Amino acid sequence: MPGADIISTMSRRGKFITFEGLDGTGKSTQLRKLAGSLRAAGHKVVETREPGGTATGEKIRRVLLDSATQGLSPSAEMALMFASRAQHIAQVIQPALDHGQIVLCDRFTDSTEAYQGYGRKLGSEDVLNLHRILCGDLQPDLTILLDSDPAMSVGRAKRRNQRASDRANNNSRKGASKHADENRFEQQNRAFFARVHEGYLAIAAREPQRVVAVDASGTPAQTHRRILDVVGQKLKVARSA
Ligand SMILES: Nc1ncnc2c1ncn2[C@@H]1O[C@H](COP(=O)(O)OP(=O)(O)OP(=O)(O)O)[C@@H](O)[C@H]1O
Ligand SMILES: [Mg+2]
Repeated sequence: MPGADIISTMSRRGKFITFEGLDGTGKSTQLRKLAGSLRAAGHKVVETREPGGTATGEKIRRVLLDSATQGLSPSAEMALMFASRAQHIAQVIQPALDHGQIVLCDRFTDSTEAYQGYGRKLGSEDVLNLHRILCGDLQPDLTILLDSDPAMSVGRAKRRNQRASDRANNNSRKGASKHADENRFEQQNRAFFARVHEGYLAIAAREPQRVVAVDASGTPAQTHRRILDVVGQKLKVARSA
């Protein structure tokens, strides 16, 4: 009876699972698939994302990701990421964990360390200090790091955004409202994404109990099976029979 031991491991506090990786590695795709599998196994699941996840956080997300935002300093960028996160933890993540739910979050503090710490060269220490000060040092129970070649994944993200912006342009010609432009980071150069990738690998090496790298180069179904195995092993959740 898989349901019984799932429930016994879920008492009191829920589980906090984050998805990390470069743009286009398939985080959002895999988060949706895992949410589906966990719900099918009877779990209460909250799907959320950063920056964003609350009304205020989604406003901050627009500022951070819109390519029309120009000249944002790296420190201001980092501060906005943490403003969104502090609100998200207070309003969504911690209450859900207190109710024993599984929270699946698309990006969390590892993204700030990889993108602002490594990519923007602000360093890990400031990011981790801000996490302690502003986020009560809340740590995920498990982080799935989707790993693939930076050129491949960033290429995927750019093609996806191009399709979204073509659709938005079509719709706006028909009078519908315009889709959000979320291209600001994708416009960075190869050296930036190489640093971000290096940052992720350093985080995984530093915290092997929490962070599990999953090869993201296969099909979505293959990656999903790997993630189900990791979640089952690490957290003793998932899996209907
Ligand atoms: N395993 C895969 N093989 C091929 N294409 C994929 C795979 N997984 C996702 N995709 C496609 O690649 C694009 C990027 O995937 P997705 O949006 O899930 O990535 P992401 O990591 O959430 O990106 P971002 O960081 O930009 O939000 C999407 O168009 C998606 O449909
Ligand atoms: Mg995504």
